[in-house]
Amino acid sequence: MQSEAVWRCMADLAMDSREFDAEALKSRLAGRRMGWRIHYLPVVDSTNRLALKLVREGAAEGTVVFADCQTSGRGRLQRVWQSPPGRNLYASFLLRPAIAPAEAARITLMAGVAVAEMISIFCPAGVGLKWPNDVCIQGRKVCGILTEMKTTGRALDGIVVGIGLNVNITGEDFDPVFRKTATSLREETGRIFPREEVAVLLCDSFEKWYRIFLGEGFAPVREKWLSRSGMTGRRVRVLFQGEAQEGVVVGIDDDGALLLEDELGAVRRIIAGDASIVKG
Ligand code: BTN
Repeated sequence: MQSEAVWRCMADLAMDSREFDAEALKSRLAGRRMGWRIHYLPVVDSTNRLALKLVREGAAEGTVVFADCQTSGRGRLQRVWQSPPGRNLYASFLLRPAIAPAEAARITLMAGVAVAEMISIFCPAGVGLKWPNDVCIQGRKVCGILTEMKTTGRALDGIVVGIGLNVNITGEDFDPVFRKTATSLREETGRIFPREEVAVLLCDSFEKWYRIFLGEGFAPVREKWLSRSGMTGRRVRVLFQGEAQEGVVVGIDDDGALLLEDELGAVRRIIAGDASIVKG
């Protein structure tokens, strides 16, 4: 028993320092709708920036950009996404859905549902969604999603859905600012994950939910998102550009805006910001 544990530990250590196996990933994803074409870079400034360039150059839907490390990973609201090498997944999915630019937030929520469902395989309890784009485990952020798009006039040329998923990063590797609020699959399970496996599962789940979205519309996505968010009926505060808005969450609308009801029963649409549950 003891030697088995030692071997497992050695395998974990080997996996921990292992490079991302892009060739293995390519062959696993061959023939799929999401990931049929892969661009892998050991280092890139931002997979989203590169994917947007590919949109402009005419790359097809289902192309996915992966990187081992990002030097200027982009977060929401002009923030930086911590992107060390050898630890996590940084992926940007290129889509060309026939929707209006104003509907792009639906895709962000769809991606959140896809990620949450995928990581629930490893963490059956405690996976939740936080508006607008965070996937959390036991309330700590494990994944962020940044959707960017290219438009011509009122038409949408393409959307890039960037997903940063904390896989094997450990507590001490996190920027001190995020240590209390961020987590990883490894932190939650005590296991080290082969990132290619997680990437294949991510592409599968993304493809499943994108098909649902295209075939059945936003309703099933919204329903699943709300059932996983746990925000409905809770009092939240949303901070945006120095202003705070407070109210009880009554849902999300067709454009992915958060619906907050105030004391007088008026419902406001919130389109951007950082939401937190008001305790007490
Ligand atoms: C957030 O602020 O929560 C969104 C973070 C999104 C990070 C991902 S990592 C892959 C992709 N490339 C980027 O530059 N950003 C996204």
